[in-house]
Amino acid sequence: MSGHGTPQPVSARRAGPLTGTAEIPGDKSVSHRSLILGAMTVGETRISGLLEGDDVLATADAMRAFGAEVSDQGGGNWSVHGVGVGGFGEPEAVIDCGNAGTGVRLIMGAMATTAISTTFTGDASLRSRPMGRVTEPLAQFGTLSYGRTGGRLPMTVVGAANPTPVRFELPVPSAQVKSAVLLAGLNTPGETVVIEPEATRDHTERMLTAFGADLSIEKDGGARVITLKGQPEFTPQTIDVPRDPSSAAFPVAAALIVEGSDVLVPNIGMNPTRSGVFTTFQDMGADLTFENQRTEGGEPVADLRARFSPDMKGIEVPPARAASMIDEYPILSVVASFAEGRTVMRGVKELRVKECDRIDAMAQGLRAAGVTVAEGEDWWEVEGIGPRNVQGNARVEARLDHRIAMSFLILGMAAQKSVTVDDAGPIATSFPIFMDLMTRLGASLHKSNQ
Ligand code: S3P
Repeated sequence: MSGHGTPQPVSARRAGPLTGTAEIPGDKSVSHRSLILGAMTVGETRISGLLEGDDVLATADAMRAFGAEVSDQGGGNWSVHGVGVGGFGEPEAVIDCGNAGTGVRLIMGAMATTAISTTFTGDASLRSRPMGRVTEPLAQFGTLSYGRTGGRLPMTVVGAANPTPVRFELPVPSAQVKSAVLLAGLNTPGETVVIEPEATRDHTERMLTAFGADLSIEKDGGARVITLKGQPEFTPQTIDVPRDPSSAAFPVAAALIVEGSDVLVPNIGMNPTRSGVFTTFQDMGADLTFENQRTEGGEPVADLRARFSPDMKGIEVPPARAASMIDEYPILSVVASFAEGRTVMRGVKELRVKECDRIDAMAQGLRAAGVTVAEGEDWWEVEGIGPRNVQGNARVEARLDHRIAMSFLILGMAAQKSVTVDDAGPIATSFPIFMDLMTRLGASLHKSNQ
């Protein structure tokens, strides 16, 4: 699993324009949920377009450990024969979720109301991330958990034998916490209610409904009140996983900042709870268009076309948009460096507890590349210096974070001098074909021995 192997340094340098078509892999969020919900359903769930990244493969292994039959049928097609809601058996060994916060938190929720106990661990990044945000609401169902100081992995979770339903208001905008509580509510009699003051990605709600759960969403002022009736009869599904907008953001960003580029990124999921970064690029003046807009499998989809955009301007990103682009701030900050003027990002405290502290990682790397950055606990600002002036000439740390690694490689594709990332291994967690795909578009990426 990535993050455990030898570091793989990679350098990126300016090359010709990026042109052609970027075929993006499946959505990571939907892929995790497809496997978990398939495992909680008796019968065969068929999945096409599954993201075969390390994070999702760890979830597939975990579902096998709980008793589901999960098989790779080739070409992105997977089959899951599930054990039903409440049907998980106790894993015989520790569940290693690798780098995946989504994987571990959703799986904790899914097993939390079944009378089994499970010990979870992960790589150094995941072992440093807070799990209390999930185990605290799970405790209200009657679930026990024993982790390291600060609620860190490794952690043993003892599922509640007689769970009681929960009414829980999210203290942080987190789809992972929301989803953990809803998944725990599945094997709980009565109604589990999650109140979400700020909307986060809604794949869990959409997919639970598709599998046959009785789930309703009401608006209360700005908040979403999600009510789930426990112990549903699930029907196996055929799922076509949309392509990941968070991965698409990387080649789109590269096309915007590399001189002369024109890249088509087809069939991207444009769920409004995920597509904030594309609106932000447009607000900055990017030449980015959404073509062939349509609905597929209940999700909005479009083909994105991105062209070199020398006239982008820095903007103040609306904080209300943060949840819909939370994973895209690192790559936004790269694009902002190549715009004219200041880009201000507020209301983004959550970036401090992702695969690494993403504000700190980006601020340090951007400064090393000649960009001025200011930061506070829940905000940061990048001083854009225009399309041709970012110096590069830096070696940066990826900190076991795929999105930090990809962001700095893209910066290197447009900077005056090359950029080396100390370890590109983590990219395999979410975008295993990134290097090949970018190289085919015309990028100059090289394994480095620096
Ligand atoms: C995800 C939710 C987000 C996001 C992560 C995927 C999900 O995390 O950063 O990459 O699939 O639910 P939070 O819920 O912690 O914001």
